[in-house]
Amino acid sequence: MSRYRVALIGTGGIVVSHLEAIAAHSDRLELVAAVDQNAARVEAVCAQAGIPRAYTDAEVMLAAERPDLVHILTPPATHFPLTLAALDAGAWVWCEKPLCRSLAEFDQIDAAEQRTGRYVSTVFQWRFGSAVEHLRKLAGEHLLGRPLVAVCQTLWHRDAAYYAVPWRGKFATETGGPTATLGIHLMDLLLWLWGEWEEVQATVATLDRPIQVEDVSMALVRFESGALGSIVNSALSPRQESYLRLDYQQATVEVQALYRYTNANWRLTPLASVEEALTSAWRTIPCDRMGSHEAQLGALLDAMERNERPPVSGLEARRILEFIASLYKSAWSGQPVQRGSIAPGDPFYASMRGEPDDD
Ligand SMILES: NC(=O)c1ccc[n+]([C@@H]2O[C@H](COP(=O)([O-])OP(=O)(O)OC[C@H]3O[C@@H](n4cnc5c(N)ncnc54)[C@H](O)[C@@H]3O)[C@@H](O)[C@H]2O)c1
Repeated sequence: MSRYRVALIGTGGIVVSHLEAIAAHSDRLELVAAVDQNAARVEAVCAQAGIPRAYTDAEVMLAAERPDLVHILTPPATHFPLTLAALDAGAWVWCEKPLCRSLAEFDQIDAAEQRTGRYVSTVFQWRFGSAVEHLRKLAGEHLLGRPLVAVCQTLWHRDAAYYAVPWRGKFATETGGPTATLGIHLMDLLLWLWGEWEEVQATVATLDRPIQVEDVSMALVRFESGALGSIVNSALSPRQESYLRLDYQQATVEVQALYRYTNANWRLTPLASVEEALTSAWRTIPCDRMGSHEAQLGALLDAMERNERPPVSGLEARRILEFIASLYKSAWSGQPVQRGSIAPGDPFYASMRGEPDDD
């Protein structure tokens, strides 16, 4: 087994989750360096976490360290240039969500993957808990019947102090509101579990925060299977909750949590006619693994070992970006938007709000 040299770019709020994940895989990873434009911050993180070298410039770090893997934990608008720089320096990339600002940027990342032979994976830790893995297994074995009705609600609360951070609240730097940065986790999970979506109709509003982006969005999604889903993404909800409810023909499957879940956050309610069989099938979950950065990093390292495309990359990462671009296009045009309809030349291909992001 190889021990890869890993470096962090960005040492702000989310760095703690990445440090924990790297520590959990220390037999496979050597954390060699961290970068942040804020010198005091990166030096403090390096001192605390025992990281040998601190940098304030990502290009300088990449040239000096030549890491095998780079974690990008900077604000959303910086992900695209940093991802390209890391790929060109020969590294694999694990980038925080949202991966980039537009489908146009995503397609350039895709081209850079092909040019460099390295891969880029987006952080979507909710895909990696044992309950989700088990649910996919049961659904794959057709034990639950067809998916029919979904409720996908990210009801979080983000106050004025949160949006006072300069990169937040603006399309150019955050790429969107709770749709693009908060509800993205649960929507990604829904779309991943239920197969391709076909059409979205949405509305967005800025009701109570002094920000350019929305603070609430609501959407209806129709899947290729015919199933329907209702989505709410809110930054305005004092009692916070992430709630996903999946009604299949034979059972309702729900998760109620906030940022992370264990098996205990999930519940299966079968029809009486299949209660015994489904309840015992659900109880065969082989372990209790949290949907966490640690779990996803393990899967990424497995893919590096095999030199094959990692989870949440390529089309598996593009789906949620296309969905969000389509949700915004629907909200601003007042029209339903079909999957595959936003192509080069469409203003929503180049920007989530259909206008240049240069402010
Ligand atoms: N997966 C999750 O659950 C989760 C949770 C929170 C945040 N995030 C994501 O993590 C990313 C960072 O969020 P955060 O809350 O840590 O932000 P933050 O503002 O706390 O930290 C960002 C850091 O990046 C640094 N930075 C900015 N531009 C840089 C550059 N070009 N080079 C080097 N350093 C640079 C800043 O100085 C800052 O220290 C965002 O994309 C966010 O959406 C993900």
